[in-house]
Amino acid sequence: MALNNEIAARMFGLEGRVAIVTGASSGLGATVAETLAGFGAKVAVVARRKDRLEELAERIGGIAVAADLTDLDGIGQVVPAVAESLGPPEILVNAAGSMFTEERAESEPLDAMRRTLDLNLLAPFRLAQDVFPHMRAVGRGAIVNVSSISGRVGVPGIPQASYAASKLGLSGLTAELAVQWARHSIRVNTVAPGFFRSEITGPLYESERASEYLRRNTPLPKDGTADDIVGAIVWLAGDAGSYVTGQTIVVDGGWTAR
Ligand SMILES: NC(=O)c1ccc[n+]([C@@H]2O[C@H](COP(=O)([O-])OP(=O)(O)OC[C@H]3O[C@@H](n4cnc5c(N)ncnc54)[C@H](OP(=O)(O)O)[C@@H]3O)[C@@H](O)[C@H]2O)c1
Repeated sequence: MALNNEIAARMFGLEGRVAIVTGASSGLGATVAETLAGFGAKVAVVARRKDRLEELAERIGGIAVAADLTDLDGIGQVVPAVAESLGPPEILVNAAGSMFTEERAESEPLDAMRRTLDLNLLAPFRLAQDVFPHMRAVGRGAIVNVSSISGRVGVPGIPQASYAASKLGLSGLTAELAVQWARHSIRVNTVAPGFFRSEITGPLYESERASEYLRRNTPLPKDGTADDIVGAIVWLAGDAGSYVTGQTIVVDGGWTAR
C-alpha cells in the first residue's frame, strides 16, 4: 500500500507540539530544529551564540533561548522561558555537547572530566527534570538525547575518556528515566551517532590522514552529515516511535557493526 499523506502525518506530524532543541546554534542541533519545525513543531532553540539562534528561530518561526548549559542557573531558565512563550514542551532533544580535551587518559585533567559531565550529562538530566512536570500534565512526551558511538566503543587514535564516559552515561540515564516515566507516556531514548561533519569534527575532516581513517572505518561509502542522523531523532520524537523507549539507537554508517 502506498503511503498517503494522512498516514505520514499521523506518524511524523508534530503540528502544534512544542519542542526544545539544545545545541541548535550549529551542526546536528540546528538540523534537528529545522526538521522538527518542518514537521510542524513550535521549536525553541538553545545554545550560547544568541545571534545564530535568533537567525534560526526567525527562519523556522520559533524562539531563541540563549543559555550556557554548564551553568545551573542558565539551565534553570530554559524550560520556564519556553513554557511561557510557546506552551508546555512535549519534545526535548539534548543535542548540545562537546569535548574539552584531547589528552590521553593517563594525563587527562580531572577538571576536564567534570566540565564534560556538566555539559554532556548533567545538563540533559536537569532539562529532563524541568520538562517532566509539563509532559506529565500533557500526558505524553518524548526526550531524545544525543550520545556517540564513543560511549560504546573505544576509538583508536582519538583520545576521549571523559567524553566517552559522559556519552555512555546518557544511555544509562535514558533507560532509567524511560522506566520511571513510562507510566506518564513519556518516552526517553538516545541516538548515538558515528562521525559526521560539524564544527566539532571540522579539523578531523580537514586533515587528509584523519578523514581517510574515518572513511576506512565506515562501511557505508560516504562521509556522515547531520542529515544522516536527523531521521532517527525525528522518528523518536514523534508518534512513529510511539512504542520505543529506553533505547540507544546507533546511527553510524556501520562503524560499530564491524
Ligand atoms: N560530529 C560528530 O561526529 C559527532 C559524533 C557523535 C556524537 N556527536 C554529538 O552530537 C551532538 C551535536 O554535535 P555537533 O557535531 O553538531 O557539534 P557542534 O556543531 O559543535 O554543535 C555543538 C552545539 O553545542 C552547543 N554548546 C556547546 N557548549 C555549550 C554550552 N556550554 N552551553 C550551551 N550550548 C553549548 C554549541 O553551541 P554554542 O557554542 O553556541 O553554545 C553547538 O550548538 C553533540 O552532543 C556531540 O557530542 C557528534
